[in-house]
Amino acid sequence: MNAGPAGHSAAPSPALADDARIVFIGAGQAAGRCAEELRKLGFAGQITLAGEEAHKPYERPALSKEFLDGSAAQASLALHPDGWYEEQAIDLLTDSRVVRVDREARHIVLADGATRPYDRLVFATGARPRLLPAAAPGARDVFYLRSMEDSLRLKNRLVAGRRVVVIGGGLIGLEVASTARAAMCDVTVVELDAALMARTVHAVFGAAVAALHISHGVKVLTSSSVTRLEELPACTLLHMANGDVIEADVVVVGIGVQPNTEIAQTAGLQTHNGLVVDGRGMTNDPAIFGIGDCTSFYHPVYGRHLRLECWKHAQNHAIAVAGSIAGQPQDYADLPYAWSFQHGAHLQFTGLAEAGDRVYWRGDPGQGKAMLCYLRGDVMVAANTINMPKELRIAQKMVEQCTRVDPGLLVDTSVRLDASSLAHA
Ligand code: APR
Repeated sequence: MNAGPAGHSAAPSPALADDARIVFIGAGQAAGRCAEELRKLGFAGQITLAGEEAHKPYERPALSKEFLDGSAAQASLALHPDGWYEEQAIDLLTDSRVVRVDREARHIVLADGATRPYDRLVFATGARPRLLPAAAPGARDVFYLRSMEDSLRLKNRLVAGRRVVVIGGGLIGLEVASTARAAMCDVTVVELDAALMARTVHAVFGAAVAALHISHGVKVLTSSSVTRLEELPACTLLHMANGDVIEADVVVVGIGVQPNTEIAQTAGLQTHNGLVVDGRGMTNDPAIFGIGDCTSFYHPVYGRHLRLECWKHAQNHAIAVAGSIAGQPQDYADLPYAWSFQHGAHLQFTGLAEAGDRVYWRGDPGQGKAMLCYLRGDVMVAANTINMPKELRIAQKMVEQCTRVDPGLLVDTSVRLDASSLAHA
């Protein structure tokens, strides 16, 4: 294969003709942004987006927050205004599931058997929720959250006094817990790990997030799991691994996602924790690219492949790869970044933490404003903040620049947060 662990494929993508046809599998945020960027770069050929959802491309962050609580209207989630796809001569196929790619014939096959030829194909297939074997997705009280329909269905069930059990204490689970609590539900979070958000943050930040939830009346059960669900006429019983039984009116499962790579795999493209693409978004077929959540992409700063599942990545990876497709390649080296709102607190995450990083608080999380800094040696490699957006931006720069800091100065809030003030004496 060409696109290996190295930054760039051996074979460059051949020049794109003016009348070339670019087809996207998937019509979510990444596909929509990439198509937009292709037009901005002057590509005047055919662009087709084929997506299985009924909607035009939309952004998902509000699905567990403002859309779920009813404060954001459906129209506000749309990536582009009404009429935009027509204006841009972009052929948007909604309700259109792609079932196969024929790489020899260079066409995609839709569920109804129709085919669409391509000169360049872009996988923007995203990810889907991991299923909990004990919680069948169609069950009366069980909810997963990925699409607008999922969010609408759940919204109708978040009624004051209802007992909501959230399985999974990651970003999705905790945002749903916060939204359900604001709707005056009785909320319990069940997390398998000993700490919340353990995939992304250090346990001490997870503990601060747990304290935030507990202070807002959420019950947080860590090191806990559900072995069996039992649907009764009036509620669902959760049989816990420790023998406890919890009654729930609503069970929300947010235990992570898995990338949608089956079509790519069947087509013989390399997949490994996502569709493997090089630093410019190209797969092992120079006519085929991948963007966003579904990809495992080479990151030049970390020197390895990463798979990221966040808004900023979907946006900026799509934009960068549009350049590669249009023959104006640029390296994509964005720092991982995500944000969340829980119980009114603004949480932000930058950089990539690893086990073994030393962590230091700047500020007091108990006071609702603090930053956890991650040092590898004395280099700042990541930061998580609670209600400190300005400081997060500064920390982001420090992480980008591999700033070396003195931990003693870092924790002292009377010392300015910048590279020169925090450098070793
Ligand atoms: N029981 C309880 N908790 C579990 C179980 C289980 N059987 N299996 C996994 N978990 C926990 C994990 O330990 C983890 O803390 O579920 C949590 C899932 O968290 P994430 O991996 O962050 O996934 P999720 O919250 O579902 O979010 C999915 O959507 O919008 C994006 O950025 C968001 O990347 C995130 C993705």
